[in-house]
Amino acid sequence: MRILGIETTCDETAAAVVGIGFDGRGEILSNEVLSQIAEHAAYGGVVPEIAARAHVEVIDRLIARALKKAGCTIKDIDGIAAAAGPGLIGGVLVGLTTAKAMALVTRKPLMAVNHLEAHALTARLTDGVGFPYLLLLASGGHTQLVAVRGVGDYVRIGTTIDDAIGEAFDKVAKLLGLPYPGGPHVEKEAAKGNPERFNLPRPMQGRAEPNFSLSGLKTAVRLEAERIAPLTQSDVADLCASFQAAVVDVVVDRTRVALRAFRDIAGHPTALVVAGGVSANQAVRSGLQRLAVETGLRMIAPPLHLCGDNGAMIAWAGLERLRLGLIDDISAPARARWPLDTSRDEAGAKA
Ligand code: KG4
Ligand code: ZN
Repeated sequence: MRILGIETTCDETAAAVVGIGFDGRGEILSNEVLSQIAEHAAYGGVVPEIAARAHVEVIDRLIARALKKAGCTIKDIDGIAAAAGPGLIGGVLVGLTTAKAMALVTRKPLMAVNHLEAHALTARLTDGVGFPYLLLLASGGHTQLVAVRGVGDYVRIGTTIDDAIGEAFDKVAKLLGLPYPGGPHVEKEAAKGNPERFNLPRPMQGRAEPNFSLSGLKTAVRLEAERIAPLTQSDVADLCASFQAAVVDVVVDRTRVALRAFRDIAGHPTALVVAGGVSANQAVRSGLQRLAVETGLRMIAPPLHLCGDNGAMIAWAGLERLRLGLIDDISAPARARWPLDTSRDEAGAKA
């Protein structure tokens, strides 16, 4: 079985072909990603209209390239998956409409995939992890602790009451004059800095509910930066290191609490999984790895090229859905908001 996956929910245009190998494991046959970072950099964030236009310009070529690199033509594909949300609606429409057109013409099944579900299931593609597992999904638009019980069966245990973790990294980067997107730059600076120089708060630490709050931490960084301005390079590095250390402490504490709640909802987890753009952060990974060892669990983080948005995760989620007969028809809507756990009223913003 081979699935074509298309991702256009934010500032990456991506197309990939994923299949099943001889051992029954997922196999990435091609994974093409074109980042629009350069187009948005001058604005310090993603501009939706620019993003949608940029997707239109490259999507056809990118799909052709993904098929070619996978050594196949559209005839060899068993289904077409596209991220149908949550995300910037103009971009989502580009990918989803392309997938619908291809599915119509070729009479192949269409899978309208939830972008968050694709992040959530990536650990099954890379590591074949079984259900149920605890997922920390941390990206630019989302921060959630989720019990993943099966394909389409997600229970949200915790979330952020204000900023997403990636968003906090991006905002801290911006206030310190670092480029967009800020996460990787903050991590790079943090590696040179002293994490103990600034005594920053650990919001929500110790609370019984595994939720996050990050906007106060970001404000604390801003106040420290203003207090010692003008900033030298080593001030910036120390601020980044202190901020990142606070984030890691909070992430580990919140995830530990979520693990306790998990057992009531889903029993014993097979693994602790982290996904989304922030899962590229080595300090976050190491903190979760320590927690996994402490709790006797396996910790799974995607390889770096699968942490951020990509087509392989959409193709894999499509493959998982097709195997279960979960296909969509041409009326599948593009959604700006689409929560993973539909029993919750929280609107599923972009992750
Ligand atoms: O999942 P993703 O690629 O896009 C969506 O938001 O859907 O996540 C992007 C987010 C950005 O906020 C970015 O700053 C953050 O992930 N990020 C990082 C790192 N790499 C990306 N945050 C911290 N450390 C990193 N190394
Ligand atoms: Zn994402």
